Amino acid sequence: MKVAEPFKQRLIQGHLLTKSSIPCKKKGFFAQGQMEALAAKEYDVLLACFKAGVHCPTPIGRVGNYITMRLIGDGHEAAPQLRDAELENPDVVLDQILDDYLVMYRDAHYVHGDLSRYNILWWKERPWIIDVPQACKVTKWSDMRRVSSLIRRDIKNVLSYFERYDVHRNIDQIVEVFLSSYMPDNQKNFRERVSVLPRSEW
Ligand SMILES: Nc1ncnc2c1ncn2[C@@H]1O[C@H](COP(=O)(O)OP(=O)(O)O)[C@@H](O)[C@H]1O
Ligand SMILES: [Mg+2]
Repeated sequence: MKVAEPFKQRLIQGHLLTKSSIPCKKKGFFAQGQMEALAAKEYDVLLACFKAGVHCPTPIGRVGNYITMRLIGDGHEAAPQLRDAELENPDVVLDQILDDYLVMYRDAHYVHGDLSRYNILWWKERPWIIDVPQACKVTKWSDMRRVSSLIRRDIKNVLSYFERYDVHRNIDQIVEVFLSSYMPDNQKNFRERVSVLPRSEW
């Protein structure tokens, strides 16, 4: 099989991390089948994002409820979370995060759903998006009001982190850029539908 050059390089350079998709109690208790389904979903989301060009861990494989992915880091240390990094050019880093998230939404059609300073790692002078099992696929069946509020919440989390660097952006404009970059055909008028119909008919 012919492997695209960047894909090959990212695979060869990577150290691997194997993790369960249910690492902690806070997410509740799950039957084995549910855990496997969640791991399969995390793998699929990572693969779609990676193929679209998002800076995220390269997915390697899944066995049961364990998935193996590239470790962001090297043989000596894992990458720190964004909250523990000291950024020299926060404006640029914010742009990199927003660009990556836009690719995730526009090209892979996923909303992250838990994007924050904890789920972005800092490695090799750039941010990497991780922790995607709760991501939502945006399709013609999606509730676009929910999609739009998840995007807004994710962006708000990210922007609130950058306030410490005195970097501020207009969240309405950013959400608008996202929604206008991708909208399933049958959802194009979702805002009008919301304003015309009473809540019981949404
Ligand atoms: N591919 C990875 N490379 C390096 N560290 C990782 C990777 N995936 C997760 N981690 C580390 O493990 C922590 C927990 O992983 P995460 O996927 O966020 O699960 P959860 O938040 O559900 O426990 C992350 O905050 C990060 O520090
Ligand atoms: Mg996490």
